[in-house]
Amino acid sequence: MSVDEHPRNGEGPLADAPAGGTAPPEVGKTPEQKAGADAATKRSPGSTAKPATKSAGKAAAKKPAAEPAPAEPGRRGQVARRKLVWFGVFGFIFACLAATVRFFFPRAIFEPKTRYRIGYPADYGFGVSTKWQAARRIWVVRDSGGLYVIFAKCTHLGCTPDWKETDNKFKCPCHGSGFDTEGVNFEGPAPRPLERLHVEIDALGQIVVDQSKTYGGPTLTAARQAWKKEGAFVQV
Ligand code: FES
Repeated sequence: MSVDEHPRNGEGPLADAPAGGTAPPEVGKTPEQKAGADAATKRSPGSTAKPATKSAGKAAAKKPAAEPAPAEPGRRGQVARRKLVWFGVFGFIFACLAATVRFFFPRAIFEPKTRYRIGYPADYGFGVSTKWQAARRIWVVRDSGGLYVIFAKCTHLGCTPDWKETDNKFKCPCHGSGFDTEGVNFEGPAPRPLERLHVEIDALGQIVVDQSKTYGGPTLTAARQAWKKEGAFVQV
């Protein structure tokens, strides 16, 4: 080997090593100094690395908010009591409003009219007609004396008797009282004859019944007297 080929510091082939080979260890620097120098190199002016303090701030911002602390038992009880009070107040107001509305709709019983028409005299032949028994609780009777209307209410305890055509009588199903076609009681506990209702012929020629006026009496004699009165029957 010649003198020119011998490697020397900063000269010869060894001086070009950093370009492609491994950099030789720096002389006179401790490992700590080397680490500091490396860090400084990474934070060179052209570098985009952010300072460590900003990274820490971002991490803190991404951290989820702390969960709310659970309500204390005392506060929960206070809320429940408050709800109960409001419930009571609204319930009271609602009840007052309902009572006010109900006031305008009284429980009225709408009974049927006591005065009504039942048709023409020609609609009724001789005998007993039960045409209006269900609707008006009456029988229409026509005989040689005229036409009259009997109220179908037993004079014993108020049951509705049945018309027995084959027996030609009204028979009360409750205790067996019997009445003839005039309404005279002749069997059973009924104490007096059946009552008759007011009848008249109106301007149109129809029979008008007025259920508010009755004709009868405590005895058969008194009842017959009443049945002769005007309005107790109509001549047809
Ligand atoms: S109610 Fe008619 S017989 Fe008693």
